Amino acid sequence: MAPHETIAFLRAFLKNPGRTGAIAPSSAVLARAMVRGLHLAPGETVVEFGPGTGAFTGAIRDALAAPGDYVGFEVNPEFVHVLGRRFPELKVIDDSAAQAPAHLAAMGRDSVRAVICGLPFASLPPGVQDDVIDALDRLMRPGSEFRTFQYVHAYWLPPAVRFRRRMLQRVGPCVRIATVWPNLPPAFVLQWKR
Ligand SMILES: C[S@@+](CC[C@H](N)C(=O)[O-])C[C@H]1O[C@@H](n2cnc3c(N)ncnc32)[C@H](O)[C@@H]1O
Repeated sequence: MAPHETIAFLRAFLKNPGRTGAIAPSSAVLARAMVRGLHLAPGETVVEFGPGTGAFTGAIRDALAAPGDYVGFEVNPEFVHVLGRRFPELKVIDDSAAQAPAHLAAMGRDSVRAVICGLPFASLPPGVQDDVIDALDRLMRPGSEFRTFQYVHAYWLPPAVRFRRRMLQRVGPCVRIATVWPNLPPAFVLQWKR
């Protein structure tokens, strides 16, 4: 990642810490853990929530059967611009993850194989958390999976626990599929399957 993209990330954090949720992009080790073992077939849609400057996007692209299978949702227009430059072959929509079902339906993609998520649930307002969980509930079919990460140090903080509890009610139990120490800060990778 170019230094100006790291600076863009820090600037976004200073401007809107709750929405950005981190001072720096995730590491390549966390990115690999987020997509490990996905085994995607052509035509299987993969959605990314909150790609930021693309820390996971390259790993997702490498796991795709075809670039057209990817749809990203990012609310920060500056990041959407960065993503367009870094990954011109991928479609990124400048809108909230909560609006994903409507966009995907309009694109004729009513079945999603995987949602890879970088949203900072621990620092998003509870209403946004709930809207995104609603969207996930609508997008996930039998065979779909959802992956996100939570920082180790914040795993038992109320917003992180609240998110897992709501997901348990709506989607089911999660599995901690990896612990990534080479990330700032270290993170758990969580997976929900339907
Ligand atoms: C913690 S950063 C993660 C960025 C990247 N995935 C990574 O791991 O480095 C969270 C990203 O989610 C975006 N975001 C926050 N709320 C969002 C929402 N409701 N819909 C889509 N993106 C959102 C932020 O703009 C930011 O780019």
